[in-house]
Amino acid sequence: MKIGYVQTSPIFSEKTQNFEQVENLLEDTKADLIVLPELFATGYTFISKEEAESRAENAEGETAKFLKGLAEKTSAVVVGGFIEKDGNQIFNSSMIVSDSEVFGTYRKLHLYYKEKLWFSPGNKPLKIYEVKNTKVGIMICFDWFFPETIRSLALLGADIIAHPANLVLPYCQKAMITRCLVNRVFAVTSNRIGNEARGEDNFAFTGRSQITSYNGEVLSSAPKDKSHIDFVEIDVKQARDKNINKYNNVIKDRRTELYSLE
Ligand code: ACM
Repeated sequence: MKIGYVQTSPIFSEKTQNFEQVENLLEDTKADLIVLPELFATGYTFISKEEAESRAENAEGETAKFLKGLAEKTSAVVVGGFIEKDGNQIFNSSMIVSDSEVFGTYRKLHLYYKEKLWFSPGNKPLKIYEVKNTKVGIMICFDWFFPETIRSLALLGADIIAHPANLVLPYCQKAMITRCLVNRVFAVTSNRIGNEARGEDNFAFTGRSQITSYNGEVLSSAPKDKSHIDFVEIDVKQARDKNINKYNNVIKDRRTELYSLE
């Protein structure tokens, strides 16, 4: 299975140009799974709820159409971030699409910083998507900070975690090594680069998108400050063997009866 990321430099509020960046970077690439950054079409640093709302879409909007077109061109299943409107709420979401359908949307559970002022926290249970004989789970950016997110996806049977991101803290890439190792899952963290100075905030996004293997190996690491794509071949069956050795299993060895997780 060929999986990878597109690391872009989104221009705030310039959807058309942001779509073009993705298309130009991918050129004639063919793959099985492509992960784009969080909010790759809109930019990230909003200064009001109204501003974020005005860029929100549903799963039949402009971004869904673009992603379906991309899926058709690349033959891949594509995961990418967008602002999802549902009634009078908006969510920091990602959708997973093929050339013909939107399989579903994931609404970020753990909102970072002022996202809490614009977005509602995710209100749907974590879920696995079965695509191309593979089980794909989705989490968005700061969700990595909460190990329960990836553990829950692993317990649901995820082989690969699609992880759209707009990272601003310097820890995630290293943390994903442990996250993947202790759950024995693959992950594609698709981050953005560039700066966004808006209102009182000035974010410097950290790039270094990463593909992390089930055994903690880093299979791909992008530059910190350049647009970049990369793809690797993986054998998803490796994520289905949860044994560390003859005696230890990362799922079965848990002592759930003695944990208190509330
Ligand atoms: C983040 O969750 N975008 C920092």
